[in-house]
Formats: sequence, C-alpha cells, structure tokens
Amino acid sequence: MPEFTQDYFTPRIPDWTRLLIDQRGWDPDQKHVVVEIGAFEGRSSVWMHETLLRHPESRLYCIDSWRQRDGRAFELFQANIAELDGNDRITVMRMASHAALHNLRSQRVMADLVYVDGSHFGCDVLSDLVQSFFITRTGGVMICDDYLWRGRKERPRALVDTPKPAIDAFTTCYARKLRIIEDVPLYQLAFEKLAD
Ligand SMILES: C[S@@+](CC[C@H](N)C(=O)[O-])C[C@H]1O[C@@H](n2cnc3c(N)ncnc32)[C@H](O)[C@@H]1O
Repeated sequence: MPEFTQDYFTPRIPDWTRLLIDQRGWDPDQKHVVVEIGAFEGRSSVWMHETLLRHPESRLYCIDSWRQRDGRAFELFQANIAELDGNDRITVMRMASHAALHNLRSQRVMADLVYVDGSHFGCDVLSDLVQSFFITRTGGVMICDDYLWRGRKERPRALVDTPKPAIDAFTTCYARKLRIIEDVPLYQLAFEKLAD
C-alpha cells in the first residue's frame, strides 16, 4: 500500500474526475503525456498514473527538487512509485522546475496536462506557468494548485509570496491564448490552452 505522511490530493479527486474524465472525455486507454511540477511523496502522481495514464505509451514526468532537508519525501515517493504496474512509464526529474521544464522543452515533449504544484512563491509560480505553457499542446489543460492559498494558518504569507498574483498575471497576459475553465470550485484554477 502506498504510504503518505500528508495527503494534499485526495480532496481534489472528485473535481479532477469531473473536469478531465466526465467533461473533457479523457480516455485513459489513449496515449497521453502528463507533467507534474511538485510530486512530493507521489500522492497525485499515483492517482494520475493509475487513473489517467493506462496506455502503454503514455508517460508521466514527475518534477521535484526533493531537497534533503525536506525529509523522507523522496524516499516515500520512490517506494510508492515502485509499487505501481507500468512504472517504467514514469520519468523522475529530481531538479528545480525551471531546469526540468527547460529540458522537456529541449526534448520537444508536449503535454496534454500540466499540474503546477511546485514552489508556491509567486515569482516561481509565474516562471513555472510561462515555461509550462510552451510544453502544453493546444487543447491541453493546465491545473494550478492552491490558487487561493495564503500560507500556513499560523504564518500567513505576504500576497506576493503566494500563487495567486502569479496566476492572475499569467492568465491576464495570456488571455487570448487560453480559456479559464470556470465550472470547477475556485480553490484550484484550471485552464485550457487555445493557441501558441
Ligand atoms: C505541495 S507539494 C506537492 C504535492 C503533490 N502534488 C501531491 O498532491 O501530493 C510541493 C512540492 O514542490 C516541490 N518544490 C518546491 N519548489 C520547487 C522547485 N522550485 N522546483 C521543483 N520542485 C519544487 C517541493 O519539494 C514539494 O515536494
């Protein structure tokens, strides 16, 4: 059984299922590419692999810096991924997201879905969004976690150190190239890429 010390993802599953599978007709038996920025212990990775990526040529790229000082997260991620059938379809990229996204662009990887859940500092989120847009195919979806997150309750962050201003800036500047998907609860923000 997969082991997690924290589960950020399970509460998102009903909305993801509705958005991707019920509304957009995502067929897990068709070939797809998913890029995940911020894999942590693999909770969202396991769900995406098992639920969205059953085709033998599908691929999941899991990006995370997994710094040593963050504890056992990488160890748990590896153990959780090791249990999955077809885990050779998962590419683990242990590096900062800007470097990983640059690599993927150089390899001409194009994703059907990018999950942006790495650093939550506005400047990093903005850079993740701009870089991810290049590697998202037209018609693909980007989902940003924690759009409304303001930091830990006991230590709220300055707004500029949270995802929201970055996501707002990005979606404003790219307004002609994307469509915000509005019928999901607003805690996360999802949009479809309409044009390069
Ligand atoms: C909230 S956790 C991801 C949770 C995961 N998506 C889930 O639902 O289970 C955020 C992760 O982003 C990683 N991270 C933070 N800044 C990063 C950066 N600049 N590049 C790559 N990963 C980063 C952290 O190491 C952490 O594991």
